[in-house]
Amino acid sequence: MSRCIPTKRLLSESLSERIQNQTTARQTAPQPLGATDRRRQFSDVYRISKSDARPVLGTLDTVRMTFVRTRISAAAGPARPFRGQTLSQRFSRSSRVIRSPGRAGNLTVTASKSPPIHIDRQAYAAVAQSAFVKNMDEYRAMYDRSVKDPDGFWRDIALENFHWETPPNEKHASFNFDVREGPIFSSWFEGGRTNVAYNALDRHVQAGNGDRACFIFEGNDPGRTYSLTYAQVLAEVSRVANWLRSVGVGKGDTVALYMPMVCELPIAMLACARIGAIHSVVFGGFSADALASRMVDCQSKVLITSTAVMRGKKAINLSHIAREGLGIAAQQGHRVPNVLVHRNEDPALDPALGALGDWEPDSYSIWQDVVPGQSDCSDVEWMDAEDPLFLLYTSGSTGKPKGVLHTTAGYMVYAATTSKFSFAMQPGDVFWCTADCGWITGHSYLAYGPLIVGATNVVFEGVPTYPTPSRCWEVIDQLKVKQFYTAPTAIRSLMRSGNEHVEGFDLSSLHILGTVGEPINPEAWKWYHEMVGKGRCPIVDTWWQTETAGHMIVPLPTAWEEKPGSTSLPFFGVEPVLVNEKGEELEGEAEGYLCIKSSWPSAIRSVYGDQDRFETTYFAPFPGYYFSGDGARRDQDGYIWITGRVDDVINVSGHRIGSAEVESALVAHDSCAEAAVVGYEHPVKGQGIWAFVTLVEGVEHSDDLKKELVAEVRTQIGPFASPDIIHWAPSLPKTRSGKIMRRVLRKIASFEEEQLGDTSTLADPSVVEMLIHFRGK
Ligand code: WTA
Repeated sequence: MSRCIPTKRLLSESLSERIQNQTTARQTAPQPLGATDRRRQFSDVYRISKSDARPVLGTLDTVRMTFVRTRISAAAGPARPFRGQTLSQRFSRSSRVIRSPGRAGNLTVTASKSPPIHIDRQAYAAVAQSAFVKNMDEYRAMYDRSVKDPDGFWRDIALENFHWETPPNEKHASFNFDVREGPIFSSWFEGGRTNVAYNALDRHVQAGNGDRACFIFEGNDPGRTYSLTYAQVLAEVSRVANWLRSVGVGKGDTVALYMPMVCELPIAMLACARIGAIHSVVFGGFSADALASRMVDCQSKVLITSTAVMRGKKAINLSHIAREGLGIAAQQGHRVPNVLVHRNEDPALDPALGALGDWEPDSYSIWQDVVPGQSDCSDVEWMDAEDPLFLLYTSGSTGKPKGVLHTTAGYMVYAATTSKFSFAMQPGDVFWCTADCGWITGHSYLAYGPLIVGATNVVFEGVPTYPTPSRCWEVIDQLKVKQFYTAPTAIRSLMRSGNEHVEGFDLSSLHILGTVGEPINPEAWKWYHEMVGKGRCPIVDTWWQTETAGHMIVPLPTAWEEKPGSTSLPFFGVEPVLVNEKGEELEGEAEGYLCIKSSWPSAIRSVYGDQDRFETTYFAPFPGYYFSGDGARRDQDGYIWITGRVDDVINVSGHRIGSAEVESALVAHDSCAEAAVVGYEHPVKGQGIWAFVTLVEGVEHSDDLKKELVAEVRTQIGPFASPDIIHWAPSLPKTRSGKIMRRVLRKIASFEEEQLGDTSTLADPSVVEMLIHFRGK
């Protein structure tokens, strides 16, 4: 378990208390600057606010949140306020505060330019052997061609590495990213016909590699493990495909999947792909309401689900939630005609859980009853390049989640090519992506990309901290994992559990470490690199999104020097730009909105059933560009540093949650009149959810009511979206036209009320005082 301080306490403490607590919690003493640091050190000056004016001396880890940068040396990039960030998220642990005035005023911090990284050059050279890009010159040459001649560049890759029933045309790519020029679209590999599941399975079996392990299942409890070869997975995929066909599912039909991380989930995805059905995976942590709204939106013809699952010590009764979801969907006018339930045979599960007693017997089929009898041969549906492959719902700043649509050929080529280049992946490598297939990472880097390359994939049912925080390292040791891909939140949580959980395991099989989902702080990066990788493994910090479907900005292993916290340079064919508020491109060292200038093969094709929303969300903000919703900075070497979302999306443990979704869940509670939700810095989750709640006239606030409000969010969205803080707000800060000023709320949630800026547009400025008064109550 992590040793982090309970959030509430952290936030209600004074700065010096916070420092003391953090130091104790981490059991680290201020470290003297090393010789290397001294050479590279520079000073930063921060303004310290009145409320935090106490003598301060400590490491940057211990000083957090309340400073505004007022001046900064050129070495650290352009000056900008960095709300709510720990200083250690920017600098190394060995940096330290050297002087504090003990009163409001300036605070001097000595920081090293970047954390010194220990690199085992010999080991890096060994990794370089399997890398597909050897150095910067090779990268530059390939990148230049990819943006100047996308048709030729991608067609060469497509023909060399994939099976095409009909090859794509020579000129096959077209797109429009400018709303002023007509409808937005992307089209890749025109003329080509292929099938993603065929490329992921049949191709390898036909090449004589059917006996290679495709999936290694690692159950929730250690020891419950087995593997499936490519030939076995192909046979099971065919059987599921035949069952789907037997209930009338065919090309273009949608199938909802609501399952835990068992091999049957990617198998069901591949079965859909084989017959041209469009899958829509709903993460197993979503609630019945969330599942229902997704099934209704895409009018799914089938739901494939599971009885139950153990996640750590907790049992989750999936079939119960699924049953409820089916009921809600029916009330909303959509009866899902076919349901397939996979019985989870984990002996640790209480048989009563997931019992299907209250289901009408003819309303569902059990996987284990109906799938084994199907033929293990099934015809492949050859798909046109732009035929839909899948939908995946994701949160945005407004409204209900959007069904992000991806199509066949572009997705296939990009997911596989990024797998190969970013992870230096060779056929047969044991690759472990810890993401759930309920998210895009599990789609592109578990179910599809690595299979197309021919790797062996670990499918992990459990959680990294169960039964102990050694679990991941133990599995890596046992299975001889070569590439390990996880999220910063998991790294931070394992880091906080202590080094003793890593020591003693043989991690020498590791070649590459990957991270995804949110900005990784240099502290966690260093720990990952040194403690897990022992300085031997390059870290690929991959920036991308559900909408991009594959890595967009990524340090290709050993091709250039990594900088902890930077995702560095664009993948082939990707043209990232930083723009200002007016949509003007910024050159050189700069900070701005991160946009993409031209299409790439796996670009989002539309929002399912809502082209208008697609254009308004991604292309209207900056005409001519795809807008990512993220902010970013480019340094003097051209490296990109992602600074996080600039819209109302909160990134909790790498999961995107729209503040509007949480707000609408809260107001669904009878006692809640109004709610406004913002993100705030959380030591493990990256961001936490802070909800300001105005109660209905006459309702008293109480701790029980807080629990009920949290429960409401769990019911409507899922437990992972639970607010961390409920802040009673007799009223909310609004402009005279009634718009909530979230900027003010963010300042209050990060204890930066001294820097509220201009509040003259507030209809009632006294609201701020009142909210500060209620903070922590
Ligand atoms: C964030 C996950 C910094 C970002 C693949 C993006 C990152 C959102 C990184 C997409 C990274 C993802 N560094 N931030 N390496 N990777 N993000 O759609 O804010 O679940 O917009 O896709 O995660 O989240 P999504």
